[in-house]
Amino acid sequence: MGSLLSESTILRKSVRITDEEFVQLRDFIYEKAGIFVDSKRKYLFESRFSKRLADLGLRNFTDYTRYLKFDKRKSDELKHLFELVTTNETSFFRDMRQLEAFENSILRETLKAQRKAGRLELNIWSAGCSSGEEPYTVAIQLADMLGLELPRWKISITAVDLSEDMIVRAKEGVYTEYAFKTTPDDIRKKHFKEVEGGWRISPAIRRMVTFTRMNLNDPLSLKRVPRSHIVFCRNVIIYFDDAMKKKVVGSFYDNLLPGGCLMIGHSESLHKISQVFKPVSYPGTIAYMKEK
Ligand SMILES: C[S@@+](CC[C@H](N)C(=O)[O-])C[C@H]1O[C@@H](n2cnc3c(N)ncnc32)[C@H](O)[C@@H]1O
Repeated sequence: MGSLLSESTILRKSVRITDEEFVQLRDFIYEKAGIFVDSKRKYLFESRFSKRLADLGLRNFTDYTRYLKFDKRKSDELKHLFELVTTNETSFFRDMRQLEAFENSILRETLKAQRKAGRLELNIWSAGCSSGEEPYTVAIQLADMLGLELPRWKISITAVDLSEDMIVRAKEGVYTEYAFKTTPDDIRKKHFKEVEGGWRISPAIRRMVTFTRMNLNDPLSLKRVPRSHIVFCRNVIIYFDDAMKKKVVGSFYDNLLPGGCLMIGHSESLHKISQVFKPVSYPGTIAYMKEK
């Protein structure tokens, strides 16, 4: 076994990409998914795509881009491409300070306003949900906050991602130790059950989230997402260029209900991207509010 492994490692040489091939593939990826790959990360294409080229029996990146554009299996290949270009890093309760501010202020105030208006309903959108840890985290926060009141509420958490594989995993809802690296133990014990191969999310939390494969670069699909009180899009726009960021953030604005808010990742900013939101500072985070 050991010798077989080392043999295949030796045989699988990385395919070199020329500057011209890089630009062609980069532009194609940008056109389809809005993901912009900087030329400094050209080596990434070589490391991530070499095995795929070998599996397809293609000799170089020129042939691969041609395959993506013209082959009769091009729409299947697009799915493979999306798996290879996305970075799916995530975990439950990622960025605890932001989530505390979200729970103690934004969520609490939103629920209070809804109760006052006599509308026991709440819509949340997790855009770029990866394998589901983010929307399930929000569902757990909500369930714990509402407690016995939960059955009286109509909660809808719409979670979308470009990657089909991630959506399949999210729907399964079984997670290994890695997903819990930022999760307090008591939360894991309360909302997960140990099963073969990991921990399964409780059915009550699972039911609160609807997962769909969706491309944020496709404005028509975004219009199908129910109007939201809160949009989470954390650690996603970091992969987009300014034009794509503007487009996507504009769609979030249109989707949000008056008084709703957008939460982005702590290393992301809407500076120079959008002036229509009102940034509100909380300890550990900034929320972007839509006017009432
Ligand atoms: C780094 S993960 C962030 C996951 C989660 N939001 C978090 O903060 O933990 C980025 C996710 O964005 C998704 N993504 C990237 N481009 C996308 C696009 N055009 N449409 C939908 N999802 C996209 C990727 O597939 C990936 O799962």
